[in-house]
Amino acid sequence: MARLKKIRKAILPVGGLGTRFLPATKTMPKEMMPILDKPLIHYAVEEAIKSGIEEFIFITGRGKTAIVDYFDRSYELNETLLKKNKLDELNLVNELVLLPGKMSFIRQQEPLGLGHAVWCARNFIGNEAFAVILADDLIFSDTPCLQQLIEVYNEAPGNIVAIMDILKDQTGKYGILDTNKREKGKIVDAYGMVEKPSPEKAPSTLAVIGRYILDASIFDFLSKEEKDSTGEIQLTSAIDAMAKDVPLKGVRFLGDRYDCGDKAGFLEATIRVALQHPEIAEKARDIIKQAQEIKV
Ligand code: G1P
Repeated sequence: MARLKKIRKAILPVGGLGTRFLPATKTMPKEMMPILDKPLIHYAVEEAIKSGIEEFIFITGRGKTAIVDYFDRSYELNETLLKKNKLDELNLVNELVLLPGKMSFIRQQEPLGLGHAVWCARNFIGNEAFAVILADDLIFSDTPCLQQLIEVYNEAPGNIVAIMDILKDQTGKYGILDTNKREKGKIVDAYGMVEKPSPEKAPSTLAVIGRYILDASIFDFLSKEEKDSTGEIQLTSAIDAMAKDVPLKGVRFLGDRYDCGDKAGFLEATIRVALQHPEIAEKARDIIKQAQEIKV
């Protein structure tokens, strides 16, 4: 296991096709779909920055250049906003532009799954523990979810994953923690993880949510992983295989999580943001009340 260092780097896999949002995602990366006025990926990077992350590695694919542009300086827009003295807007568009060299973009040339996406970043990570953030899982919390994981890592290094209690019939949608401890506490020690088991085969009802702190030795395990029946290399299988060498812990994070990879979750998150948005909160309440009268 690598020596304990500050968690400085985060991998953000953004190569997925977003088929659940077609036709919108035919020309627009799903990570750029806005939850009201900020694209999904904005929330993920914001959470990471608040958690102390300094370097970002995006694993992209074809058709994802809008994400690269989003985190770049837009010379024309900056000039225009400045000329019009729209300084608030100018701040908004530059809020997440990081210093040169703090963001890298790697193409995952084939859709070979989450494990493969993470493996693509191996040369950019080196020998230090790092974070993985799945932007589809949008989490609102007082302490950023990733920071909650980092705090646990700082006390006891190892692989740390965010977990959530789910209903038994939902296990087929998530990586499920293998633990026989009936602990109700915040931190759960685990033997491993299973990817999307059926309810009968699920070792628990603790689902892994898209925030991970991983030891750099995972790259060796990922190199050895075979494709599963869906043709993908799973991150879950590598975490499971290394659990004998690197302690694995789940953290029941505090916060509200929305599955924005799903239409209903995306809508729910949008409504939440609207109801808390200083510009339109009141109007949003009226709209929701009126919506109940729409004949369907
Ligand atoms: C991925 C992971 C899964 C995890 C989930 C969290 O699945 O493979 O283990 O529980 O993210 O959102 P996906 O939702 O990409 O199918």
